[in-house]
Amino acid sequence: MTDHSAAPKKLFIKTYGCQMNVYDSQRMAEAMGSEGYVLTENQAEADMVLLNTCHIREKAAEKLYSDLGRLKPLKAERPDLKIGVAGCVAQAEGEEIQRRMPLVDLVVGPQAYHRLPAMVRAGGGVDTEFPTEDKFEHLPKAAATRRAPAAFLTVQEGCDKFCAFCVVPYTRGAEVSRPASRILSEARDLVSRGVREITLLGQNVNGWHGEAPQGGEWGFGRLIRAIAEIDGLDRIRYTTSHPNDMADDLIDAHRDEPKLMPYLHLPVQSGSNRILKAMNRKHTVAEYLRLIERIREARPDILLTSDFIVGFPGETDQDHADTLDLVRRVGFGTAFSFKYSPRPGTPAYDRPLIDDAVADARLQELQALLSAQQKAAQESMVGRELSVLFEKPGRLEGQMVGKSDYLHAVFVAAPQARVGDLVRVRITHSAPNSLAGELLAA
Ligand code: SAH
Ligand code: SF4
Ligand code: F3S
Repeated sequence: MTDHSAAPKKLFIKTYGCQMNVYDSQRMAEAMGSEGYVLTENQAEADMVLLNTCHIREKAAEKLYSDLGRLKPLKAERPDLKIGVAGCVAQAEGEEIQRRMPLVDLVVGPQAYHRLPAMVRAGGGVDTEFPTEDKFEHLPKAAATRRAPAAFLTVQEGCDKFCAFCVVPYTRGAEVSRPASRILSEARDLVSRGVREITLLGQNVNGWHGEAPQGGEWGFGRLIRAIAEIDGLDRIRYTTSHPNDMADDLIDAHRDEPKLMPYLHLPVQSGSNRILKAMNRKHTVAEYLRLIERIREARPDILLTSDFIVGFPGETDQDHADTLDLVRRVGFGTAFSFKYSPRPGTPAYDRPLIDDAVADARLQELQALLSAQQKAAQESMVGRELSVLFEKPGRLEGQMVGKSDYLHAVFVAAPQARVGDLVRVRITHSAPNSLAGELLAA
């Protein structure tokens, strides 16, 4: 049994990478709560430091080692400080991490973190198994504390797509969809704790297909409709989607389901058919554009966002021009763009790289176009009446900040308002990464 009579031990978690890691960090914090740990924001006073890592690009993975280096003096001063590495670097590098950095006490992969409490009790270890049980069902349940108004909920994990550049199929394993009944009960629990907006998470979230509550199978569109029936839940979002998994039922849900927000992150990576093929993306530019057209027919005001990789092996000036052309044709609300980073163990790893300076120049050109589109999309919101869910106080006295339907951050003067209020706002101003608005009468 855990001894709760002692002063609580303090856990510091640093999260890198995607939203799934953010969700995982929260679940690990809750699990460690049952071991008598409380979260701290201050690394210097922690009894345990947990780094929840990302392996997607080389720079992301290397951050782990620079952070571990910075922990050396703290560990030297307090040898009982426990240091854990979780997440995708833990999965990819396992014991190698401890060999390179002996100060690390434990290494736990993303599919094994329900075993984290036991590892901590045992004083350390390495666990990068892909167990068959559902880790979410084996994680200690959190105390029924109040939650922030917007929450993540992982419904699907892993990836079977094997894009030639990507580590995710190796770090997260095969695609697994959680059963609908577990997702629905987790969603109801979140709502009972004050959550009004849920973002459904998965590496291929729209590929979710799971056991229906009464038996049989549901697709992702059906799941969204079931979640939308929960009273007290106002908004549903999901990320990240693959173009090939955008089923008709899901597109229909964007037309029919008012709680489903008009926002879709749909990575395309490149606007060149040759490069898409080399990336093993399994769709063409024309197919992507046609898909966008159908989504916009269903929900004309939808804000689309995407991911791009520039400088993939073999990319020519023409391929790059084709990517810019696709961006101009679609018009994105915002997008992430990255310079290709070769990852060990992926099919593209050994392919000859293009000239680095050329890749840098292309990235700059793409980013300039994307920021112009982001600016235009934000400015098109000025004058519109939108709903905003307040998530926290703003920097100024009496100010609140929250997200619009289109996921823009909106600052509003609202001295009477509280976090968790869903209000109507007229957008008055567009700043580089946010909007400002004024409260409308309810
Ligand atoms: N599951 C999502 C994205 C996963 S990773 C999808 O299917 O698109 C998030 C983004 O990181 C990717 O969309 C891609 O743009 C980028 N990325 C992944 N591997 C990369 C690599 N080796 N180099 C550069 N960017 C990469
Ligand atoms: Fe990676 Fe491709 Fe899977 Fe996305 S779909 S996680 S980019 S392999
Ligand atoms: Fe990174 Fe793993 Fe997410 S590699 S992007 S933390 S799935």
